[in-house]
Amino acid sequence: VAISAESKTLQGEHVVITAGPTREPLDPVRYLSNHSSGKMGFALAEAAAKAGAQVTLIAGPVHLATPAGVHRVDVESALDMQQAVAASLPDCTLFIGCAAVADFRAEQVGAEKIKKTADSDTMALTLTKNPDILAWVAEQPKAPFTVGFAAETQKVAEYAQAKLKRKGIRMIVANDVSNSALGFNSDDNAAEVFWYAATGEVTSRCFQQRSKTQLATDLIELISEQKHEQ
Ligand code: CTP
Ligand code: CA
Repeated sequence: VAISAESKTLQGEHVVITAGPTREPLDPVRYLSNHSSGKMGFALAEAAAKAGAQVTLIAGPVHLATPAGVHRVDVESALDMQQAVAASLPDCTLFIGCAAVADFRAEQVGAEKIKKTADSDTMALTLTKNPDILAWVAEQPKAPFTVGFAAETQKVAEYAQAKLKRKGIRMIVANDVSNSALGFNSDDNAAEVFWYAATGEVTSRCFQQRSKTQLATDLIELISEQKHEQ
């Protein structure tokens, strides 16, 4: 019986994927967030499940249906997301950080709604840095094969490679988000992927514009290929 190689590429793997934005509360009725739709992360989860993996999808607030066969964990803030990631790490063999994690959260979250005052026309929020979930996963003692994304509006290749090194990860998928027709809420995407070859050299591959479903399938194929080479 012929078994399709493609459908078996991630058999036996537990893939953990973060997706969507995070939502950082300011007070009981307000938050800071971004325009991530979660589509790319959900498409990756679907492609990984189709490739035979056990998939945990840790999703920020998005309006998307859970792909078939995927275990979904809903979270709001970056700190919630880190907790959910930590809980799923023990048997995780491949981690893909696709979420647009808010870089900062409010230093103090109001227990009550913040009131505007009559004596000032401006207001200042003090923000504090969120943990870098991706870098944190990569530095764990038994770290899974770790893949990140990079959203850039300029010097895409340069900044993405800097993130590959700085975060101690194995691969990075760079998106040029200055092209407003692609990325975030679009159904299409293009990407350039950078990774460490067996020789230790940084290698890259370009994926021209295609549907996020197709790009996810192509990325999962490349990721599993590289993971099996290590
Ligand atoms: N990421 C993360 N936790 C954060 C910030 C980012 O896990 N607190 C992950 C994202 O999921 C993505 C990668 O890091 O896989 C790169 O995110 P990006 O926002 O492009 O890079 P930053 O390191 O946050 O740098 P900057 O936003 O300043 O470009
Ligand atoms: Ca960021």
